[in-house]
Amino acid sequence: MYECIELYLQQQNNSMPIGYSYKEIKKMARGFKDKLGEGGFGTVFKGNLRSGPGVAIKMLGKSKGNGQDFISEVATIGRIHHLNVVQLFGFCIEGSKRALVYEFMPNGSLDKFIFSKEGSINLSYNKIYDIAIGVARGIAYLHHGCEMKILHFDIKPHNILLDENFIPKLSDFGLAKLHPIENSVITMTAARGTIGYMAPELFYKNIGGVSYKADVYSFGMLLMEMAGKRKNLKTNAQHSSQIYFPFWIYDQLRKEEEIDIENISEEDMKIVKKMIMVALWCIQLKPNDRPSMSKVVEMLEGNIERIEMPPEPTMYPDETISRDETTSFDQTTSGDFISSSDSGENMSNPLLENTS
Ligand SMILES: Nc1ncnc2c1ncn2[C@@H]1O[C@H](COP(=O)(O)OP(=O)(O)OP(=O)(O)O)[C@@H](O)[C@H]1O
Ligand SMILES: [Mg+2]
Repeated sequence: MYECIELYLQQQNNSMPIGYSYKEIKKMARGFKDKLGEGGFGTVFKGNLRSGPGVAIKMLGKSKGNGQDFISEVATIGRIHHLNVVQLFGFCIEGSKRALVYEFMPNGSLDKFIFSKEGSINLSYNKIYDIAIGVARGIAYLHHGCEMKILHFDIKPHNILLDENFIPKLSDFGLAKLHPIENSVITMTAARGTIGYMAPELFYKNIGGVSYKADVYSFGMLLMEMAGKRKNLKTNAQHSSQIYFPFWIYDQLRKEEEIDIENISEEDMKIVKKMIMVALWCIQLKPNDRPSMSKVVEMLEGNIERIEMPPEPTMYPDETISRDETTSFDQTTSGDFISSSDSGENMSNPLLENTS
């Protein structure tokens, strides 16, 4: 009987995620024997619903939020359905114990496939490109497509999961809000993102407010790594010019050199170039210079000739000042560039709302 109800609820697309008791969760996870991984919010275990389907159960660490916040957030997140967003099946809240039950993704997370390790499957550039578009669509949906604006704040290869057909699914969106930890706003934000993907406005106050453009930045860093099949920051690179991939690749593009990738066909080179051009737009220092995710989808799907050459990437605001003074690619004065607050398009940081 119970199995039938569970299955029925799962099939109802608009249903709320199911609330489970801790006992049920423990059973589902078969005593937490099969650990899938561990991240900033807790530990993930493999399990199965009684009705059969595999699940990934995320046991959350200590949170400061109250139970009501948790439940209302779960309700919102659980109502989201998109091909490129991982489905939340259920949750558990019992005393201080909190868990989230997600659909299981048999191919794991994207990091395994782009930072090639020995023995790992090598995805074709075509596949990587499809995955990139899927991820972009998923984020665009969270930003503009569903009834509420959901900011992810932790886009990175580990949070892109792949189903049996390598269709990408975003995971862990909304967790920053769902699972606030004790600490001040700034450190909380910093603790929530992941270095290497976090937008500069999360560190520097003077380049613009925190908005959905922070996700665009993280997506850009991810896209860059997908195109380069390498980490953006590689301290053991063969040549020092190659340590930070975005600088190196920008230089190559500007000199109109063929990008230096071994054994790559002309067709694949086109795809890689397009991904890099889009990525360079996404990682612009100033949030306002970055495109929206719907624009990103459009650029990725469209013709490379229609993408303008992006301005040179910069890492820190200080560098922007000196570059602006010498190269002045930006028409605003460097003073304006740094001190002006962002225009109306920024929304407030949901993390701030949570802690005020
Ligand atoms: N639904 C799922 N299906 C299959 N594997 C999963 C699923 N969710 C998570 N995993 C695996 O568990 C690992 C740990 O996930 P977790 O979200 O805790 O950490 P993370 O993604 O590395 O970091 P973060 O805490 O920033 O999200 C992931 O890297 C992924 O390989
Ligand atoms: Mg994760």
